[in-house]
Amino acid sequence: MRNLFAAFAVLFLAATTFGAGITKKPYGKMPDGTAIEEYTLTNKSGMTMKVITYGGIVTELHVPDKDGKLADVCLGCSSLEEYREGHPYFGAITGRVANRIAKGKFTLDGKEYTLATNNGANHLHGGKVGFDKVVWTAKSDEGETQQALRLYYKSNDGEEGYPGNLKVSVLYVLTDSNSWMIEYSAVTDKATPINLTQHAYFNLAGHASGTIHDHVVTIHADKYTPGDETLIPTGKIEPVKGTPFDFTEPTAIGKRIKEIKADPVGYDLNYVLREEKVASTTKPVATVTEPKSGRVMKVLTSEPGVQFYTGNFLDGKQKGKGGVKYPQYGGFCLETQHYPDSINQKTFPSIVLEPGKTYVHRTVYSFSTVK
Ligand code: BGC
Repeated sequence: MRNLFAAFAVLFLAATTFGAGITKKPYGKMPDGTAIEEYTLTNKSGMTMKVITYGGIVTELHVPDKDGKLADVCLGCSSLEEYREGHPYFGAITGRVANRIAKGKFTLDGKEYTLATNNGANHLHGGKVGFDKVVWTAKSDEGETQQALRLYYKSNDGEEGYPGNLKVSVLYVLTDSNSWMIEYSAVTDKATPINLTQHAYFNLAGHASGTIHDHVVTIHADKYTPGDETLIPTGKIEPVKGTPFDFTEPTAIGKRIKEIKADPVGYDLNYVLREEKVASTTKPVATVTEPKSGRVMKVLTSEPGVQFYTGNFLDGKQKGKGGVKYPQYGGFCLETQHYPDSINQKTFPSIVLEPGKTYVHRTVYSFSTVK
């Protein structure tokens, strides 16, 4: 009898510590009174993801290390007010077109469009009010082996200068095998460029652990799209071999970062992923290992490119969670996407979505450990 009670106690403890499921609570209000919700998704091993309906931002991601100890591996802010004051796209959905469009201009079906410019002369991550700053509606779905949150947003014809009413849906799934799966989909009533991504900044040692120089990265790409000083692609596709951009073999981020000629110095480039890895459900396009914690993150994607960005513009001033000030190189992003400025680069894969077609992009960030 006593054993039975002991077993119940253990079960109860397990259930309360790692109760898989989804909870929801208020996160704040927009100036017009719109309520922002925070959803917490928890899986059976205790991995937890917090998502807010402002920008579809993943505010926290608690992942186990080699000893099962959880740490929040995503950079972010502490409150809606801090997010609204401005931040460099921490954990946000970026679009309608993530990355840069030269001078904010493009021509589609014979018509010239002018977009909002918000990065010098260029358009970046959807413009002044991109998908990272809008309010999404959410629907949660608790499952047997996974927890899902679907976010919806309707981007009106003319928003930030883009053509067409675009209905967007982004599905976040947290599986019991410690994967964060994302499926983006969209339909439009006029041809429009679209390129959605997730702008999470990861630090696999924990979000407040300093720089990511020790993280060991592999990116399965032999080529990249070099850019000008404003990071607009020249249109060329060049080999990574013999450059500090070569991550075809596992290499620490900090090993060659100072060799990069850029201001600020650091990785901020688009890789042309090896075709055999793109859309594979088993072969990652990139793997990152943090040696001390033993945390490993593998990235799988349907997209032909990935922007590798090492937080070069972080400068220790940005207010972070719990009052932390994130230093330069305090986190890295692996933004799976089509190539920058694709709408103006006829040799790059097209990002035009036509009416009657559905845009679909799938990416998985899958977490495991090594001893
Ligand atoms: C870009 C960086 C930019 C950053 C904004 C990245 O996707 O490549 O150049 O500074 O987003 O936080």
